[in-house]
Formats: sequence, C-alpha cells, structure tokens
Amino acid sequence: MSFQFTGLAEKLRRAKHPELYEDDEEEEKEEVRDDGLEIPTPGTFRPEEIEEDDPNEDSLSDVDITYPLVPEDPDKGETVYAWAHITWVEEEGELIYKVIEPDLDPHTERILEKIRKLLERSFDVDFTDLETEEAEDYLSDKIDHIVDKYNISLTENQREVIRYYAKRDFAGLGKLQPLMNDTEVEDISCDGTDIPVYAYHRNPKFGSIKTNIEWNDPEELDSFVMKLSQRCGRSISVSNPLLDGSLPDGSRVQATLATDIARKGSNFTIRRFTEDPLTPIHMMDFETENAQMMSYLWTLIEHEKSVLVCGTTGAGKTSQLNALSLFIRPDKKIVSIEDTPELRLPHDHWVPEVARSGFGSSVEEGGEVSMDDLLKESLRQRPEYIIVGEVRGEEAYILFQQMATGHTGLSTIHADSLDMLMDRLTTNPINLSPSLIETLDAIVLIKRIRRNDKYIRRITGIYEVEGYEKRTGIEANKVFDWDAQTDNYELVNNSVLLKDIVNETGGNDEDLKKELKNRQHVLNWMQEEQIKHYRDVGDVISRYYSDPQSILEDVGESLNPRQNQLGLKD
Ligand SMILES: Nc1ncnc2c1ncn2[C@@H]1O[C@H](COP(=O)(O)OP(=O)(O)OP(=O)(O)O)[C@@H](O)[C@H]1O
Ligand SMILES: [Mg+2]
Repeated sequence: MSFQFTGLAEKLRRAKHPELYEDDEEEEKEEVRDDGLEIPTPGTFRPEEIEEDDPNEDSLSDVDITYPLVPEDPDKGETVYAWAHITWVEEEGELIYKVIEPDLDPHTERILEKIRKLLERSFDVDFTDLETEEAEDYLSDKIDHIVDKYNISLTENQREVIRYYAKRDFAGLGKLQPLMNDTEVEDISCDGTDIPVYAYHRNPKFGSIKTNIEWNDPEELDSFVMKLSQRCGRSISVSNPLLDGSLPDGSRVQATLATDIARKGSNFTIRRFTEDPLTPIHMMDFETENAQMMSYLWTLIEHEKSVLVCGTTGAGKTSQLNALSLFIRPDKKIVSIEDTPELRLPHDHWVPEVARSGFGSSVEEGGEVSMDDLLKESLRQRPEYIIVGEVRGEEAYILFQQMATGHTGLSTIHADSLDMLMDRLTTNPINLSPSLIETLDAIVLIKRIRRNDKYIRRITGIYEVEGYEKRTGIEANKVFDWDAQTDNYELVNNSVLLKDIVNETGGNDEDLKKELKNRQHVLNWMQEEQIKHYRDVGDVISRYYSDPQSILEDVGESLNPRQNQLGLKD
C-alpha cells in the first residue's frame, strides 16, 4: 500500500507549492509526441454524435443468401440435397452459415442407423482408394442390396435421403462434407468440442463466419480427426497427435488429436483446395495488384530474378507464388518443392516434388524425405527455377545457397514486414549470412486487410534488395507502395533491377519501357476478355514469348521493332 501513500503525499505537495513543479509540467508537455493519436478522455454521452448506418450501404444484417451445395451445380430440375443459407441471426448478432440438409423423420433415421451398421460390416473396399463417383455407385448398390435383402419398406423419397446420408458419411467427410463442397469457402476450422465450426467465406464482406456445424461429443470429434488423417493417408495417435497432410481432393489439412496439447479437444483446419489456381488476372480482378506491378514482376521473373513473397497466415502467399510462376518461360526447367502439394503450373518442364514427413506417414510410404533432402537433390536435376512452397527452417538456407550458385529461387515465407523478414532470415533456425541475403532480388509483401468493412488482399510493397549488412540491416529500394487511405498503388521509385536487366541484355531503357507497356496491354486485354484460367493464361504467356506479334495483334497493339534485342523472341 505504501506506493499509494507516496502518490498522495506527492499530490498534496504539488497542490501546496505548484510553483515548484511548473518546470516539470512544461517538460512533460514537451514530451507529448505529435505523430501519435491522442486517446480521448471519457466524456458525456451524446446520442446525436453516434453515426447512423448509411441506409444506402448494404449492411450485414440484410444478408440472406441461399445456394446449392450438394450437388454444387445442379441441372434444371435436379434434386438438391444440401444448401448453404447465410443469414443474419438477430439473437446471435452475427452472420451464420447454415448447412441445410434433408430432414430425417424418426422412422427413416432408425432405418439409416441400421443400414449404417450393416454397411460397416459389409465393406470390402477402402473408400480412400475410390474416385468419388465410383464410391457413390458402390454405396448405392450396397444400400439397394441391403434394402431388398432385409425387405425394408421405404418410399422412394426416404431411400434417396438414406442414400444421401450414407454417401455423405461413408464416401465423404460426414457432416463437414457439404461445407467441403462450397467453392466459396477458403478455410474451415474447428477449435474443439462445443465450439461451432467456422468457415472463411470468399465474399469480402463476410470473412470468418460461424456455421451450424458443431461437435459436442469429444470421442466423435476424435474419430473425425482420425478419419481425416486416414483420408490423408497418414496416421495420427496420442503419441503422435499432429497431422499435416492433404486430402485426396488436394485440400490441405492440419489437425491435432485431443491430448494434453489440445485441451479443448481435437481441432483441425482445412484449407479448401481450389479447382484451379489463381492467376495474375484473378489478382488484378481482386485488385491485389495492378497491370503495372504485374508487368514489372513478369519481367523480373522472366529475367531470372529471385523473388520472395512474404505475408502472414492466409494472406495469399502460395496463390501469389503460383500466379507469378506462370510468367516463367514455358521451356524452362522448374523443380518445385513443397510440404503439401498446392502449386499447379501449366509448364511441361515442371517437376513437382513433395516432402514426405516421417511422422504420421503410413507404413507403406516408408521413411522421411524432408524438404532439405529434396532441395539438395534438386541441384542434380539442373533446374533453372526452384520454387519452394514455403521456407521455414534449414531449407531456406539451402534455397539461398542455390540462388547464390545461379539458380532462380521463388518462394514464400511467413513474415508481415521487412523487419520481421530480416529477423527471420538472420536468426535461428535459418541463420543466413549477409552475402546470402544479397542473392535475393525482390520481396513482395502481401497482406490481408480489413478496410471499410471488407476483407481485401493487397500487395503493400514490392522491394528490391540492394544490400545487407549485419549492423545496418537491409538496404532495399521500395518500388511499389500501397496507400491504405485511397486503396491505390503508387510507383514510388525507379527500378534498379530493371536497369540491371537492360545492362545484362544489352538493350536500352526505351525498349524495356515499351516492353513493359506491351505486357501491361496484354494483361489488361486478358482481364477484359476474362482469360483467367491458369492454362489459358499460360497459353497466352507462352505465345507471347514465342510470337509476341500475334498476341499484340489480338490486343491491338504494335510490337516494338527492337524487341528481339531484349531476347524476347526465341
Ligand atoms: N489475392 C487474393 N484475393 C482473393 N483471394 C485470395 C487471394 N490470394 C489467395 N486467395 C485465397 O485465399 C486463400 C488462402 O490463400 P493462400 O493459400 O495463397 O494463402 P497463404 O498465405 O499461402 O496461406 P498459409 O499461410 O496458410 O500457407 C485461398 O483460398 C485462396 O484462394
Ligand atoms: Mg501457403
């Protein structure tokens, strides 16, 4: 208590002899910094100061959308078994994603239970080995067989409902399956029992929303996580409770089995696989970057500059890496190395490799082959480009070493600023030396941001690495910047790397400028024409490399006559 008395005594002294303290107060005032924001003192409540919601703005409480999940894309007249209904729930004060499935009357439910048990006993196949359609046909046959054999009386409607639930639970992922069908969902996460499953929706206004799916029985959740790991071809157990894998459809799974390390119960996160990877044109549609930035990155990648994409979890790093890799000339040899297979490239000369973890891998798979092993090995494959899905540890060191020996490296890393990136690169476990850091050419910083009630992804900076010194840190030339106030990109500096390219190729500034412009036209044209599937974008880029004139004719632009000097034509 004594400190309170000291404070009181001090106050009394100040009140009695203010003149003794005047200087102190002035000094204190001077210390107030003018680059910060003053925190207001509590004031009187004035209802008139409360800003009314703009009635013209769509508010979340008006959201009420419904779309089919099973099947995702029904033909006219086709039965829809499961729907997504996203709506504002007044009592919860938030948006809820409701999965709506067929009702089960008590009679049908009893029969379903019985059929389930009989099915479990009669399985002679492993569903993980079957294609979805094969599994569905197989199940339908089995159900029909059981219904006939046991003379179960069912209406056609009840039979359909039973087929739906049996398929969902045996061939699919049970109650999570309808969500897995939703291409609008990026991530699905479950933090434990008695907590709703959350879905991260692509609609920029929604973000992460609660669903009506929940596990209340810990054992049921445990067995679901086991099922997930089985589907990933891995094993998970109390002694080995972590799972990192991918489902047959390509979705990435991280899960922890309930143990002392997961005290709320088992948990999992699924990054849903997108049928087709995002391309530079999608990125421009989302305004994650503009044609000017894309044409610049295109040119860097073509000229074998090494680029690192940095951002936090789910910022869009892997998608960015995949999109940028489309700019690699189609004849170049690419080796990609990943923990879980996420990259998809249209290149013929692409060798995708995936590390195999020793932990949790199935017996048939054999021993561990780490990212480092694959990277070391990749040197012998003589790739011109090495793409590493994400660097975290020792593999970063090997990648930078390979970059130092003349390979072009493209990769991502978890860091949300340049400082944090340097911190990660120079400390354990990565521990790069300054000379290795200098082998990196450009850094692309990507962020997921909430702006004006919308979730957006923006490239907040593109930097060129000029040098690195232990004492002073990184010397980087920021070429592009993003202004959060206006949501615009700004070219803030001339590019040193482009100048290097001019020097390396023996061209001149004007030619390269014209070339960058032409690429912007090509990108804008693809956007206008909505050519954005990765194979189509790959085709245009490939044609542009081999015959720029023909693409520019489509675009309506003329070719720079001296373009060949820059080595743009084979
Ligand atoms: N620029 C973008 N605009 C809109 N959606 C995007 C963008 N980039 C990625 N996405 C979507 O966001 C999700 C996460 O993207 P991605 O896997 O690339 O992120 P990440 O940063 O690599 O995540 P992690 O840290 O988990 O590896 C995906 O569903 C993807 O389709
Ligand atoms: Mg990623």
